Amino acid sequence: MSGGGTRRRVAVLGSTGSVGRQALDLVERLPERFEIVALAAGSNAPLLADQVRRHRPRLVAIADAGRRAELEPAAREARCEIACGDEGVLAVAGHRDADVVLAAIVGAAGLKPTWHALRQGKRVALANKESLVMAGGLMREAVAAHGGSLVPVDSEHSALHQCLRGERIEEVRRLILTASGGPFRTTPLERLESVTPAEALRHPVWDMGKKVSIDSATLMNKGLEVIEAHWLFGLDGDRIDVVIHPQSSVHSMVEMTDGSVICQIGVPDMRAPIQYALGHPERFPGPVAPFDFGQARTFEFQPVDRTRFPSLDLAYAALRAGGTAPAILNAANEVAVGAFLDGRLGFLGIARMVREVLDRHAARPVDSLEDVLEGDRIARRAAQEILSMKVLG
Ligand SMILES: NC(=O)c1ccc[n+]([C@@H]2O[C@H](COP(=O)([O-])OP(=O)(O)OC[C@H]3O[C@@H](n4cnc5c(N)ncnc54)[C@H](OP(=O)(O)O)[C@@H]3O)[C@@H](O)[C@H]2O)c1
Repeated sequence: MSGGGTRRRVAVLGSTGSVGRQALDLVERLPERFEIVALAAGSNAPLLADQVRRHRPRLVAIADAGRRAELEPAAREARCEIACGDEGVLAVAGHRDADVVLAAIVGAAGLKPTWHALRQGKRVALANKESLVMAGGLMREAVAAHGGSLVPVDSEHSALHQCLRGERIEEVRRLILTASGGPFRTTPLERLESVTPAEALRHPVWDMGKKVSIDSATLMNKGLEVIEAHWLFGLDGDRIDVVIHPQSSVHSMVEMTDGSVICQIGVPDMRAPIQYALGHPERFPGPVAPFDFGQARTFEFQPVDRTRFPSLDLAYAALRAGGTAPAILNAANEVAVGAFLDGRLGFLGIARMVREVLDRHAARPVDSLEDVLEGDRIARRAAQEILSMKVLG
């Protein structure tokens, strides 16, 4: 299927998640292109053991060290080494045989492994947007200092990356991220107060992990993506716009200084941007079907309703404030999403919580990873306190 070209050795962080599983599916379908050398996950030992049997990596790591024994039979069969805990995950991130590391852990847990991979000079295919949101400046410095690279996996940023191939960044006027609008695109504000986690998890286009699904429902996901785009492409927030595009066919757009707009179109299948990121700069046939223009279609574009989706403006404000503000935003959001999923916070309480935590803690400058982690800890503590006071609804 894939013909000649380089065969990449891949380490996957978060192999049991939605992105991780789709990446392994892709690798299995393109054996001439990709080979798995290391896998890491959080706690899903049964699935990780299956993956070890199928892909026979050289190293497997599980963050939850108590689950090690469940991996042993599969690891013995595959002659694969086992590592545990955070150190084990870092060993996968920096595996010496990996040509490319797919960073697909969810949330702040992905920060240190992504950072570690970049400091080993790895090419990182980045799905874990939270690590760039929290510590974008440090990640860019790590790329510059250690000779690695970052290629986005998020479909929107993959689109921007593709639109910008061969373009000069000085000739770009603005980046336009598209958003499906999520399950509540047309839901009235009064009704949003009482929507349930089950409704919020029902994304109209993508089948994703729980955290990113809730972020898509609040549009915080788009806010995090604005910050991610800032660090990936170097444009300020006032030159990064968001537009609702319910069909999710145009994955994002770039407006050039002469007014011309370049867009990337494709079917909504995450294996396409994963293949692009793992294979970059090469392109080759893969399992994703081409876009069918033989069928009549309508593409709609609408502005975002910022009253119903206040999270987006909170993310822009955090990007403007700089320093630890994006890490504070991210941490408060993670706590709030967890509380919403557990039924301890209403849907609109998520943005209220993030706003409240940002208001309480002024941004501090970021000179080291420890500064970022401190911002993260402070925000989580504040969010837990607010939750315990039950004031947000
Ligand atoms: N899903 C998508 O279509 C999509 C699209 C664009 C971007 N993204 C981004 O990709 C990232 C992953 O999303 P997802 O939807 O794939 O999430 P997910 O389905 O919830 O999977 C998360 C993965 O992270 C692992 N993990 C959690 N904590 C860990 C830890 N401390 N150490 C090691 N591994 C840990 C989980 O392992 P266990 O399950 O074994 O605990 C799992 O493999 C997120 O940043 C998301 O925003 C996702």
